[in-house]
Amino acid sequence: MIKAVRGTRDLLPPDTELWNFVESRVREVFARYNYHEIRTPVFESTELFSRGVGEETDIVSKEMFTWEDKARAASEKSQTLTLRPENTAGVVRAYIEHELGRSGLLQKLYYIGPQFRRERPQKGRYRQFFQIGAEVIGPPPAGSELPIRDAELLDMLTALLDAVGLTGWTLYLNSVGCLNCRPGYNQALREALAGVKDQMCGDCRRRAETNPLRVLDCKVPEDQPIIDKLPRIADYLDEGCRTHFAQVRELLDELGVPYQINERMVRGLDYYTRTTFEFTHGELGAQSAVLGGGRYDGLSEQIGGPKAPGIGFAIGEDRLVLALEAQREQALAPLKAFVIPLGAGMNRHALKLARELRAAGITVDVSDESFRLKKSFETAAKLGATYAILVGENEIEAGAFAVKNLKSGEQTTHRRAELLPTLQK
Ligand code: HAM
Repeated sequence: MIKAVRGTRDLLPPDTELWNFVESRVREVFARYNYHEIRTPVFESTELFSRGVGEETDIVSKEMFTWEDKARAASEKSQTLTLRPENTAGVVRAYIEHELGRSGLLQKLYYIGPQFRRERPQKGRYRQFFQIGAEVIGPPPAGSELPIRDAELLDMLTALLDAVGLTGWTLYLNSVGCLNCRPGYNQALREALAGVKDQMCGDCRRRAETNPLRVLDCKVPEDQPIIDKLPRIADYLDEGCRTHFAQVRELLDELGVPYQINERMVRGLDYYTRTTFEFTHGELGAQSAVLGGGRYDGLSEQIGGPKAPGIGFAIGEDRLVLALEAQREQALAPLKAFVIPLGAGMNRHALKLARELRAAGITVDVSDESFRLKKSFETAAKLGATYAILVGENEIEAGAFAVKNLKSGEQTTHRRAELLPTLQK
């Protein structure tokens, strides 16, 4: 039997319904923010990615699907081609090729389509995957460099995730400086690493020389205490980058967009300058980044174009769909526990316990201290709860709770710390 190639997959009905729902919702949001669609080819000259994304990145050095395309006629030249591992380089190439900067206006472009990376396949990581992305790019007089662009883009991302119904994400934000100040930071890292790199993993030892910023990305547990002591990028940003970042944050605060600064988030592509960001989602496990992006003020010049600062992002659509499915399953999850406060003053203890359990991912509902125990048990049964947990004065004093399995009728007592494992069984 001929099967789909490792790392690729068929999307079948009814799953495709959710993909279509996501795509139609994001198109509506893009339209409201005045973005327009661009479609670039799925393969490009290899050189575009090696120069654009960076020779030293994992993407270019290990993960690209590249082939030698032989000439078929005397008029054709042979060339090295690559399936696009991402779409930013392609969009910037198109911007240069079609002189989109000539209008003097900002180009606000979005795309939805497949990308290809030879990564080791696992849940949330595929060799053909889909991205929903956008880029804002233009000549500096159009305002392409200004902090408002960054804030507007991040604001749109929260609207996009809202529109598809994704909750529970975290936005991590950083500034990786610019071509003026990053060399100084790289040098500081190199110097700091010189003394400690021999105690680090093989990748770090190599990166300490070739691309010290990448060391911050290392996930090896033993290396973490060393990395925590390395110089911090915020101390090396020049005046321009520092002010830019402060203004982006101010606008986000004003808009009420919640974020966490993560100075170790350096991203896997070399074109980034200044603002970088990632949104993660807890349901995704190891592949927790649902989207990533940032500013790339020098990319156009790097691939032979005019000065055209820009900022953009790409959502991993496969991961977004996975997170939405997990969320839906949770929403449909049967009621695990019914917390029953016993007597006056117990509601607050019951609510606190319910909050703790819910935070751990358990579906919980709560009765009321004024209800008779019999009535609460009846409600628990009607709701289909698996367990009833009694919260009375004795329980609070002893720090242990009576847990009744409503399916088997068995009643046991558990200390607070044992409660969660019992319910998760
Ligand atoms: P990236 O972080 O390499 O950035 O990819 C963006 C998102 O694509 C990731 O956060 C992830 O959700 C998804 N993704 C990446 N690799 C895979 C994979 N093998 N399987 C499934 N999903 C994956 C970029 O691609 C940049 N072009 C984003 C950007 C746009 N920066 C500025 N403009």
